[in-house]
Amino acid sequence: MQHVLVTGGAGFIGSNFIHYLLKAEPEVRVYTLDALTYAGHRQNLEHLPDDSRHTFIHGSINNRQLVDNLLRKYTIDTIIHFAAETHVDRSISGPASFIETNVVGTFTLLEAARQAWLEEKIVAQPRFHHISTDEVFGTLALDDPPFCETTPYAPNSPYAASKASSDHLVRAYYKTYGLPVTITNCSNNYGPRQFPEKLIPLMIFNALQGKPLPIYGDGQQVRDWLYVEDHCTAIHAVLQKGRLSETYLVGGRNQPPNVELVRLICAILDEHFPDSPHYPHADLIQFVADRPGHDRRYDVSTTKMEDELGWQPQYNLDQGLHNTVAWYLKNSNWITAVTGGESFANWINENYTQRGAETQ
Ligand SMILES: NC(=O)c1ccc[n+]([C@@H]2O[C@H](COP(=O)([O-])OP(=O)(O)OC[C@H]3O[C@@H](n4cnc5c(N)ncnc54)[C@H](O)[C@@H]3O)[C@@H](O)[C@H]2O)c1
Repeated sequence: MQHVLVTGGAGFIGSNFIHYLLKAEPEVRVYTLDALTYAGHRQNLEHLPDDSRHTFIHGSINNRQLVDNLLRKYTIDTIIHFAAETHVDRSISGPASFIETNVVGTFTLLEAARQAWLEEKIVAQPRFHHISTDEVFGTLALDDPPFCETTPYAPNSPYAASKASSDHLVRAYYKTYGLPVTITNCSNNYGPRQFPEKLIPLMIFNALQGKPLPIYGDGQQVRDWLYVEDHCTAIHAVLQKGRLSETYLVGGRNQPPNVELVRLICAILDEHFPDSPHYPHADLIQFVADRPGHDRRYDVSTTKMEDELGWQPQYNLDQGLHNTVAWYLKNSNWITAVTGGESFANWINENYTQRGAETQ
């Protein structure tokens, strides 16, 4: 791994990974390809550990000519593919861009890699690593065992279906052409630089302003929560020691129901702001009409990551949430910059304000 192309590196997990990788691998050069959609922000790539080893390219993974040029110009030997449309609610109101980016975009990257690496052999030891989600497996009943690498795919949202399609394409490029690939399917990430449309940063963002904390349905949905730094170490372990064509599940071993998670965030804000007019912040919780097709429970087994690669998550939920809240409190300029403009306000209005209260 010398010249790494990171797609979607201006987003939440991609940017955290670039910060991590430049520190962990002192020789590696990183090239970020990002279309800077509403979810991508140049600010996420400020204050990198070594800016001289990072190059930003503004463009789309769907632009085949651009991808072809980048692979050759920078003799890319590793592609780490984060770029995607990622918000389930947006996939329900507008699925087309999910198919375009997550399915066609992944296909475009795979084709470019196949030509450059397998036909023209521009590098000796290439690797394509695909970042995916546990949502491809569908939902679990409360007493079901956790998802594992052999769980059949059963995606329930357009987002999950588009990620499942991309996983299948990646796998097929190994089986058919021998493209050297690995895949990780991880649970819900949280931590610094996550756009405040997702649950944890939205709750922090709203609570600080004394706005309602909207929770879907009865709030009893269960997700596994993975601190983003643990995700970065997991990807690094798979790049170093993972077997080609294998899938690895990555989770944080934290599974509170959503409402409990929000109460934990409120309790941390109470610690920081005992004199706030919004104290206790949990009083801001408001149950709103549920998301259609909302999966009830996700849980992932990390046995393969542990047994085969010796990886384990290092953060429990309490530590991870304290770090996350502290980061958002310290970076109010970032919040203002990424939530400024009409599109964020319009989205919040469309998705939450007009949703109405929970009626069941
Ligand atoms: N956030 C999570 O909890 C989570 C959980 C499991 C898996 N994942 C997966 O991890 C990856 C990263 O997720 P994230 O939360 O950081 O997403 P994000 O929405 O924060 O960032 C996505 C990035 O991709 C970029 N992008 C979108 N379309 C593009 C295109 N056509 N070309 C180039 N760049 C484009 C955006 O500008 C943005 O910077 C995704 O593949 C997602 O499916 C995320």
